[in-house]
Amino acid sequence: MEYEFPKDFEWGVATASYQVEGAWQEDGKGESIWDRFSHIPGNIVDLTNGDRACDFYHRYREDVDLACSLGIQVYRLSVSWPRIFPNGRGEKNEKSIEFYRNVLNYIKEKGMKTSLTLYHWDLPQKLQDEGGWCNREIVEDFKNYAVTLFEAYGSLVDYWITLNEPYCSSFLGYWKGEHAPGYHDYSMALAAAHHLLMSHGTAVKAYRSMGLPGKIGITLNMNQPYPADIKNEEDQKAAERMRMQNNQLFGDPVMKGTYPQELFDFLKGQGVVLPDVREGDLELIHQPIDFLGLNNYFADIVKADDGAWPLMASLTTKGLPVTDAGWEVYPESMYDLLTWIQDTYQPPEIIITENGAACNDWINSDGRIEDTNRIDYLKRYLGEVHRAVKDGVPVKGYYVWCFTDNFEWAWGLSRRFGIVYMDYETQKRTPKDSAFWYKQVVENNGL
Ligand code: NOJ
Repeated sequence: MEYEFPKDFEWGVATASYQVEGAWQEDGKGESIWDRFSHIPGNIVDLTNGDRACDFYHRYREDVDLACSLGIQVYRLSVSWPRIFPNGRGEKNEKSIEFYRNVLNYIKEKGMKTSLTLYHWDLPQKLQDEGGWCNREIVEDFKNYAVTLFEAYGSLVDYWITLNEPYCSSFLGYWKGEHAPGYHDYSMALAAAHHLLMSHGTAVKAYRSMGLPGKIGITLNMNQPYPADIKNEEDQKAAERMRMQNNQLFGDPVMKGTYPQELFDFLKGQGVVLPDVREGDLELIHQPIDFLGLNNYFADIVKADDGAWPLMASLTTKGLPVTDAGWEVYPESMYDLLTWIQDTYQPPEIIITENGAACNDWINSDGRIEDTNRIDYLKRYLGEVHRAVKDGVPVKGYYVWCFTDNFEWAWGLSRRFGIVYMDYETQKRTPKDSAFWYKQVVENNGL
């Protein structure tokens, strides 16, 4: 075997509530911002939505059984906040509390560990109506929601993830407008980021006071930035600004209790309204975590760009082959990123909570799905993870995104990331070649 992983390394698969559950109006669930957003024509490229998706709400046993048969060790899923609190706060919905309890119990029964994300983007619309993540009061609502889950599932969860990719919740939701709630205001994105981070801190703090057995962390999406022209000083500076905005704006406060001041000074000079950071906020965000979750798919190739307010930096490509998401395959950037994280933050543990590839999978006449491109992608990325582990980066686990194909946000059902193929008409699940390949990786603890 070329790449053998440490004995305690854990192999998982990842999913998220809105992307797989469907049952969008069942058993008292409230509306989420993604229900609202995906029902507006034009927001989702293929005009689909998550109303039904993989129908995980009714078929979770089938998925858990399948994961178990593939030898998966950790099953990552998220809770839909508006299922638990249809109005965001107030009376909780016991039926939904029971639903997730059943799912978690079933995963445990099948001998897998559970990784539960509290927030993977489906905010109750009722809270959005009050400003959503831009309203500081949401921090209290999140705390209440988090404590409700800690109380309900404290003994069933091995890994708690407070937030998934707060960069996307804030920047794609409030600045780029590509994600719900669909705003285009940079200052709003910064305010949202600050309240998301405070919500993370307040949840970890509450968790610590409850004496529960699991571990808790946060999942950040980070990309290694490279200047488009490595000799060009302006590109170099632009790449550093991109690093501060995408990685450090979230990593620094969580891991060091500071915001990147240089970024804030630069943005202020561009006329951006900075977030209202009050005394005690950073201290609240900077709670000790047990692991840092990392989602990574690609690198940021950055060029200075006078037209790209406010960062004056934009993304370009290196000309490498791309996946069907249009993302360049650049495995070495995973190594560079992991070593940068280690040098900068020294997290106690890192779990790669997502990595994977979208491919337009080839289905043979015999029904076999030969996703060789995905296998190739996973192999090469895992090779770089292994190199980082060998060099002392404490990566303790790796979860493939995604288990089954699912609703890929603004790209709808048309982008397939799964190692299991979904027929959305019949709801039939078919493991792709990558699923059988991954089974071997898990069995051998390496490749
Ligand atoms: C990150 C997100 O957490 C997940 O929801 C998404 O589907 C994948 N990346 C792929 O884009």
